[in-house]
Amino acid sequence: MSGLKVLSVASEVFPLVKTGGLADVAGALPGALVREDVDMRTLIPAYPQVRHKLGDGVEVASEYEDLFGGPARILAGRVAGLDLFALDAPHLFDRPGNPYLGPDGQDWPDNARRFAALGRAGADIGLGAIAAFQPDVVHAHDWQAALAPAYLHYSGRPGPGSLVTIHNLAFQGHFPESVFWELGLPAEALSLEGVEYYGGVGYLKAGLLFCDVVTTVSPTYAREIRTPEFGMGLDGLLRSRGAAVHGIVNGIDEAVWNPGADSAIAQPYNPLRIDMRARNKAALQRRLGLQLSVDRPLFGVVSRLSHQKGLDLLLHALPALLDKGGQLGLLGAGERWLESGFGDAAASRPGSVSCVFDYDEKLAHLFQAGADFILVPSRFEPCGLTQLCALRYGATPIVSRVGGLADTVIDGNEAALTAGVATGIQFAPPTVEALAYAIERAFEFFGDPAAMRRMRLNGMRSDVSWRGPAKRYADLYRSIARSAA
Ligand code: ADP
Ligand code: GLC
Repeated sequence: MSGLKVLSVASEVFPLVKTGGLADVAGALPGALVREDVDMRTLIPAYPQVRHKLGDGVEVASEYEDLFGGPARILAGRVAGLDLFALDAPHLFDRPGNPYLGPDGQDWPDNARRFAALGRAGADIGLGAIAAFQPDVVHAHDWQAALAPAYLHYSGRPGPGSLVTIHNLAFQGHFPESVFWELGLPAEALSLEGVEYYGGVGYLKAGLLFCDVVTTVSPTYAREIRTPEFGMGLDGLLRSRGAAVHGIVNGIDEAVWNPGADSAIAQPYNPLRIDMRARNKAALQRRLGLQLSVDRPLFGVVSRLSHQKGLDLLLHALPALLDKGGQLGLLGAGERWLESGFGDAAASRPGSVSCVFDYDEKLAHLFQAGADFILVPSRFEPCGLTQLCALRYGATPIVSRVGGLADTVIDGNEAALTAGVATGIQFAPPTVEALAYAIERAFEFFGDPAAMRRMRLNGMRSDVSWRGPAKRYADLYRSIARSAA
């Protein structure tokens, strides 16, 4: 079968709008699928930055007189190598800044409506709203797109296959029952066998129930979310979907993340010239105002600051890290309490701890090129991309053994060291003690330059590309492909 058509529906896409790894995935997957003969178009909301990039010369593909309270249309265009459909509904999406949060830092009060509109438009395209692009599969990412399979189901019409990807089960799109009456779904949909969820409406729940296939972003997370510990209330439903739940690890865009040709770092390098990394370490120390030193191991963090990421564990393990002579550089934005904790640490240990509380794509590259270790002490991690970037850049990852972190980093235990395959350090469970011990192990490796070099090279040679994952997605798409009549 050739020329499979897939509509990807996402609330963010790199490089146009990004709050996390979802954008990276939605941005990279279409390009990676070309070699699999999959033609993927991406439907995203026409936020101002999207509208701006699309410009004027766009084709109006479809129109709504009233989509959740106002007129809307779908624009088509090609931006940054992506074939986009943009849902232009100014009453819902013409708002600058973060795609989910208002100026007060809180969720927009009408997020239920905004992302129901996205799911609805995804389903409509699936059902043939755009004559020039009739998808065989609709691929919905996370709760923001997850109503698409429900709308397809309740349309009662033959439609395309559907797939929902869970990037993070912590966000489920759970709204009060009143929302249901705005969705335009038949009354019977407000039931356990429909979109009802704990007395309200569950967008992700609905998607997981009605799609043909569920994927999440690593095999370990796919197993974990079937358990009450990680399932966040949806483990029962996920267990009931049985073999329809798959785990496919993410890749990273090797053109964006390429230490051999990266204009955001001080000194490009490759595995054959790995010693040149040292210049990036110096550049990062300088940029962060840390003491210039080759002998002090530099631990880096590039992360959202949230409970998920376990950085409070690091705050507690930090004194020991510093006592041993380590340095910490942190690039992150998010929850206040974490910013203030790390801010205090930086203030009391200048030269040893430095934090940039910002979202800075360019600086993230210098962190990966300059840090000796990248710390990812997450409590749960569906996949994680920072450790993949770290591998590619020869910054040895120190990760908790959960989700995609467990699947992508090979712990430097005796067996792996003997076999010469170790790429990093894992610890479990996600506690201060286990993290502190992992940091101790990092110091041991750091004191053994040959072992350290080996580990860095193994990391740089790991396959973190989209090739394997893209093939797995393509196989799944083929297994569920169907066209609307
Ligand atoms: P999540 O999506 O849960 O935040 P991932 O590891 O999957 O975690 O993806 C995070 C992405 O966002 C990576 O590309 C990472 O480099 C980037 N990132 C996170 N925080 C920052 C930051 N403060 N500045 C720049 N990039 C960041
Ligand atoms: C989510 C997860 C992260 C994953 C990303 C992309 O944000 O938290 O682990 O890598 O989605 O799939």
